[in-house]
Amino acid sequence: MSRYRSNPEAIRALVRADEVHRDVYTDPELFEIEQEHLWRNAWIYLGHDSQVPKSGDFYSTQIAGRPLFMLRGTDGVVRVLYNRCAHKGAKLINAVAGNVGPMLRCPYHGWTYRTDGTVRTIPLRSGYDGTNFAQCRAAGGIEPVVNVENYRGFIFIRLASSGLGFKEYFGDSLSSIDNMVDRSPEGKLEVAGGVLRYLHDCNWKMFIENLNDTMHPMVAHESSAGTAKRLWRDQPPEVPKPMVVEQFAPFVSGYDFFDQMGVRIYENGHSYTGVNFSIHSKYSAVPAYEQAMTRAYGEQRAQEILREARHNTVYYPSLTIKGAIQAIRVARPIAVDKTIIESWTFRLAGAPEEILQRTLMYSRLINAPMSVVGHDDLLCYRAIQEGLAADGNEWVSLHRDYSAAERASIAGTYNGTSEVSVRGQFRAWARFMTEDAHAGVAQ
Ligand code: FES
Ligand SMILES: [Fe+2]
Repeated sequence: MSRYRSNPEAIRALVRADEVHRDVYTDPELFEIEQEHLWRNAWIYLGHDSQVPKSGDFYSTQIAGRPLFMLRGTDGVVRVLYNRCAHKGAKLINAVAGNVGPMLRCPYHGWTYRTDGTVRTIPLRSGYDGTNFAQCRAAGGIEPVVNVENYRGFIFIRLASSGLGFKEYFGDSLSSIDNMVDRSPEGKLEVAGGVLRYLHDCNWKMFIENLNDTMHPMVAHESSAGTAKRLWRDQPPEVPKPMVVEQFAPFVSGYDFFDQMGVRIYENGHSYTGVNFSIHSKYSAVPAYEQAMTRAYGEQRAQEILREARHNTVYYPSLTIKGAIQAIRVARPIAVDKTIIESWTFRLAGAPEEILQRTLMYSRLINAPMSVVGHDDLLCYRAIQEGLAADGNEWVSLHRDYSAAERASIAGTYNGTSEVSVRGQFRAWARFMTEDAHAGVAQ
């Protein structure tokens, strides 16, 4: 029996101000409703425009079950198109990334399309003479995704035809992307190398919630980061700290450190930790980089940009970024208990190679499938997914530092160990799952 479909009241009842029902993580029907509503009503990160630098370059993926791709046209414009032939619906692109050349050709009957999606040629076209073909949708070519925003290279889409505009949806949280891009002396990011992908056997929310969970590092990462810190403890202070220790050690800082970091909450589920400082604040200086930044921005502005060392920013529900280290992770849910996490690293255009080395080191240590820190988190996500099947309590506690004042407006700055970011995410979740005005169906 369908418990949640067409029953917004039942869905809203799953989210209390300070608790959430376990079904949001475990119920396959809710997962389907999420795909149809939340993931279509929200602005979802697709990819970075530096993934398609040349004319004809494409990158394909699936969002909310819809196959789509971004493609740089022969006119230099990056478009987002549905991956479906206008004839009988075959996927036009079957690789994840590549180059189509000057046109796309369907692998089934060979219809060809220009890089803007319009029909170029159809074999034996005269067979359509005297038919209604010219008036039908197929004659228009490949369907575009209508709501697309390229924000400083980051390409987002909203699949629903109506809903919140891009700026309204993200608000001032976009300042984290600004800071990441501004860290390039040329104001430009470039994807460095390929992508690291993991399959997490857990619901996507466990990953997204964890990004601003500051109560776990000193516990969950004790065995990995804690070991690195211990191994270095007896070194005399004049021995320069290797980059690996510099990156590992802050993970096992005390509760005070994470509490004082602070967390900033925005409407619609977005947030970042590291308002005052973060685990990235104390990395060794790279003089050649600081000089390049000063040349580009002037001393004062350069210092302002570099002082901002935010920890994780969550662009709910799909993208998480670490501007200070130029790494992002993207959640691609595929089932209620299966999520692909993509981990991408970026080069700051105009910055010395050492900065990219720092980013790559971080990705290997923390964000790669074979990293030691990433596994600590995954073990915990999996443990929750299994633990929630227990009888008795069906509710998950989000009480930490809850205050009734959040009900009126949750936007603001809070102490860093509060669970307010998760409460903010579920507030958005309940809204986008049930708000009919924003539940637009196919374009
Ligand atoms: S399905 Fe593409 S040409 Fe027929
Ligand atoms: Fe972690």
